Amino acid sequence: MPGNEQEPKSVKTDDASGRGSVGDFKVSFPARMRSYKESEIDVVIDVMRNAEAQTQGQYMHQFQADFQEYTGADHAFAVDNCTNALRLSAILCGLGPGDEVIIVAYTFCATAIPFGETGAKIVWADIDPDTWVVDPADIERKITDRTKAIVVVHLLGMPVNMPAVMAIAEKHNLRVVEDCAQAPGAQINGQHVGTFGDFGCFSLHAAKQITTLGEGGVLTVQSDEDAALVPGLRHNGCRAFPEGRARYWDPAMSNVDIDIAGVWPKNFSLGEAQCALGSEMLKSLDEINDTLIEQSEKIKAGLADTPEISSAQIPPGYRHVFHQFVLHFDGAAFGATRNDLLDIMAFEKKIRVIVQYYPLYRYPLFQKLGAGEQDCPVLEGWWDNSFSFPWWCGISDETIDYLVSSLKETIAELKSR
Ligand SMILES: Cc1ncc(COP(=O)(O)O)c(C=O)c1O
Repeated sequence: MPGNEQEPKSVKTDDASGRGSVGDFKVSFPARMRSYKESEIDVVIDVMRNAEAQTQGQYMHQFQADFQEYTGADHAFAVDNCTNALRLSAILCGLGPGDEVIIVAYTFCATAIPFGETGAKIVWADIDPDTWVVDPADIERKITDRTKAIVVVHLLGMPVNMPAVMAIAEKHNLRVVEDCAQAPGAQINGQHVGTFGDFGCFSLHAAKQITTLGEGGVLTVQSDEDAALVPGLRHNGCRAFPEGRARYWDPAMSNVDIDIAGVWPKNFSLGEAQCALGSEMLKSLDEINDTLIEQSEKIKAGLADTPEISSAQIPPGYRHVFHQFVLHFDGAAFGATRNDLLDIMAFEKKIRVIVQYYPLYRYPLFQKLGAGEQDCPVLEGWWDNSFSFPWWCGISDETIDYLVSSLKETIAELKSR
């Protein structure tokens, strides 16, 4: 009997994203990728017992250096979540009323909120029909003389075609932000996502491949000029006094200043225990991604003879790290919709399939804030028949077989109706 035996322990509650082991499902969607290893628990306890600084200390600097080395980024800054990494990027792009920012419409709401709140107009970009991430040609179509920045998302772990995006950005002199929340370790021909554009924003949230106790993030930055502005912006404008002082208290214990006119600094710091855990978890990231990729390959192989189901096409040289496992159903030939499919999968097969990343322009929040207009025909034609399998790191072969056989049986039942 397949079950949740492989899921991380102690996951009992539903959360706002629809995750968690709720109800009487045989297979459900856990709220985290995997349980912590003992070595990961140990580093947190060690900081609690032994570290003098609990924030802004040696573990933050070490984690930033480790993340920089892992990704090959020019600069890396630990922050309290990816939303705030995106928020710092939006500030550094210098966006404001009268500007336009092109953002892919198929993503989590946190991608767009920090850009919308600058007062810039959000222009939604469509997805590519094969990769299901942003279509660079659609970005180019939507550029106007007001466009200042492009925000792309390596959604589900699939890298966006960054060489094409960067060529467009260079031609039109635009800033590029990469939302890498779901794609740490994803690469194009060996180059990590988050190192192509001006900024890369990573999440260490509970549901991500690696997490720092539920919340956390990293901002990678390409230019030295942008990087010089991050520490003050990230920590209430705090910095050292420019010259040595005869009396350490005079004129004050610490200095506070701001480098960008009109911008108030923030506090987006990540504590030392979380940074220490970040360094430790980074050691397992490749292994976690390899496991997710392997699981995806097993499912895809099992469904190879099921033409009604398709998955994203991975371009050669791309490392798609499968943060989620999304499929598309085409039951038009026998008049069946995604909801018909999921009714059986959820209520008869007891598999807690979900649908997610509703096109953002459909949400009341974006509509009420003036970002409800769209011209995204590919996403409109694709999304309503997409769904996600329950997904975590370490799904047993038995559970994978149950997912695959249940989907096939469900399609057979729909065809016979
Ligand atoms: C695509 C995307 N962007 C941004 C975020 C925000 O990340 P965080 O929760 O670390 O703020 C998420 C988190 O789920 C995400 O999936």
